[in-house]
Amino acid sequence: MVQCHGAQCGYCTPGFVVAMAGMFESCDRVTEKQVRDGLTGNLCRCTGYEPIIKAALAVDGSASPKMRDRYPTLPDADDSVTVGNFAAPATLDEAIAFKRDHPGCTIVQGGTDVGVWVNKRNYAAPAMLSLSKIASLNEIREEDSAIVVGANTSLADFETFITDRIPELARIMAIFGSPQIKNAGTLVGNIANGSPIGDTIPYLFVAGAVLEMNDGTRTVPIDRFYLGYRKFDLQPDEIITRVRIGIVRDTLKLYKVSRRKDLDISAFTAAIRLAMTGDRIDRAGIAYGGVAPTVIRLPRTEAFLAGKSATLDTFEHAGRIARDEIKPISDVRGSADYRLQLAENIMAKFWYEVFGETPARRLAHA
Ligand code: FES
Repeated sequence: MVQCHGAQCGYCTPGFVVAMAGMFESCDRVTEKQVRDGLTGNLCRCTGYEPIIKAALAVDGSASPKMRDRYPTLPDADDSVTVGNFAAPATLDEAIAFKRDHPGCTIVQGGTDVGVWVNKRNYAAPAMLSLSKIASLNEIREEDSAIVVGANTSLADFETFITDRIPELARIMAIFGSPQIKNAGTLVGNIANGSPIGDTIPYLFVAGAVLEMNDGTRTVPIDRFYLGYRKFDLQPDEIITRVRIGIVRDTLKLYKVSRRKDLDISAFTAAIRLAMTGDRIDRAGIAYGGVAPTVIRLPRTEAFLAGKSATLDTFEHAGRIARDEIKPISDVRGSADYRLQLAENIMAKFWYEVFGETPARRLAHA
């Protein structure tokens, strides 16, 4: 960074250096694309990114030892750990017992949201539980046109797995968070966090995802899991161990509306799925986020679309029904009116993107 003039005030420099060090854990040289992707979560307001990218490209990672070489004697990963009111048990039975015996216990996986609560809101959980030592929850696999994702699977590993299987969701995952966040956070954590603007949730709704508790003692379809704002159909002695997600092969578009395109918290999210025969809509699946205390399906809009031709008129009408079907609130990310307008307009946008010419293309042809 010094040789390439990669720092001025230096405020951002430690973050860039640590992010670069992370990239060189798995390789000795990086490509420009790897650098741009790997540093996407770090901002510099004075140097500009070219010298920082040059610095990363100039590094020979073989010249310094990797973390695993620096710290070769990590504690035995199979041992359960309990420190005060924090537990990281090695078996699911121990984890269930700990959660049952500690009311208000927070399960922390990546801590990407809980960490913010602790830093910004003085949050102190009565107890915290990590599932990271339970090896059976590390899995991700394809089974009968669905993907089974264990509670420990990171968002980064999920993104890699779905890149060719569900490209539309992978597109949203790419702008969802930085590599650091996606390496730490888990898909099941995103579900269990229960944010009405969780970016993966609308897809999971229209794909009919099913949550598995305690290795399969009970299953709950995701659209019945959320009972209210951060209220769940989950018992004190239950832990979400896996989620089973259908691979959508129908017409599908996902939307994430935020002030900044990349790495920003959404004001509004949507998933629109259509099963079609020719230009006739057989079935529609629509889920919106950011318009209610939970992500919701829009049954009236779905029922309206079923059996209709996929014309612009149909989708403009569907947009008006969708607007009528929600009661969003105003908050720091957008007013209720703004969200109502988005809820309506997104249906027409969907039509232009999937079936029609965009206004920009029409102008270009004129
Ligand atoms: Fe000042 Fe990056 S060097 S913010």
